[in-house]
Amino acid sequence: MTEPVFFHMAGIHKVYPMGDEQVHVLKDVNLDLEKGDYLSVLGPSGSGKTTLMNIIGCLDTASAGEYVLEGYDIGEMDEVELARIRSREIGFIFQNSQLLPRLNALKNVELPLIYAGVSPRERRQRAREMLEKVGLSRRMEHYPNQLSGGQQQRVAIARAMVGNPAILLADEPTGALDQKTGRQVMDLFQALNREGRTIIMITHDMNIAACARRTVHIVDGVLTERAGEAHG
Ligand SMILES: Nc1ncnc2c1ncn2[C@@H]1O[C@H](COP(=O)(O)OP(=O)(O)O)[C@@H](O)[C@H]1O
Ligand SMILES: [Mg+2]
Repeated sequence: MTEPVFFHMAGIHKVYPMGDEQVHVLKDVNLDLEKGDYLSVLGPSGSGKTTLMNIIGCLDTASAGEYVLEGYDIGEMDEVELARIRSREIGFIFQNSQLLPRLNALKNVELPLIYAGVSPRERRQRAREMLEKVGLSRRMEHYPNQLSGGQQQRVAIARAMVGNPAILLADEPTGALDQKTGRQVMDLFQALNREGRTIIMITHDMNIAACARRTVHIVDGVLTERAGEAHG
């Protein structure tokens, strides 16, 4: 038996209608990934990064083109199926950690498992393991406002990983952090990738993009991968 296609995008376009006009935001995007890849998508503000992230993350669908994730033809899915695939296959990490302020770190990490119907005992254990993995074993009872920005972002990474998604999808994950803390988050991503996590990281920062193993550039909705641009 052959494995289902992990990640394949071909001829992806995104067009937004704006009154009588059409805004053509993504233009013929082609991208293939394998399990265990660590890709950065580098582009300036307004280039289409978030639009692409929303399509990759099954928050939105393309206007044209093919997107297959874990064997699912995403373009053919309705809202309900998209939501299910999104919750199972994608772990989102945003610029601001977006933790729930009234829940401690452990409960924040448990939350996706509550929605997934995992038993209290198992989800407690898995959340603990994830917080240990991101180096927060001594901060589990802390509330978000009792954590530094970098620690909050690590809780968000633990939360993104706890459901064991196919892809960790990060949009400007260091955008709200100082340089040193951002560097620590990049070290964590590298460690997680070495353990086999597949990561897609979206950024406008060259130095951050260079932390990935592979970089694609997006300019004015056009995605290119320059030959030989692998960071080893
Ligand atoms: N819902 C929308 N309707 C119309 N235009 C949009 C919409 N979302 C984004 N755009 C336009 O698409 C372009 C790319 O936006 P975006 O993907 O947010 O870029 P980035 O994340 O790289 O800054 C921008 O010119 C933006 O104005
Ligand atoms: Mg953006």
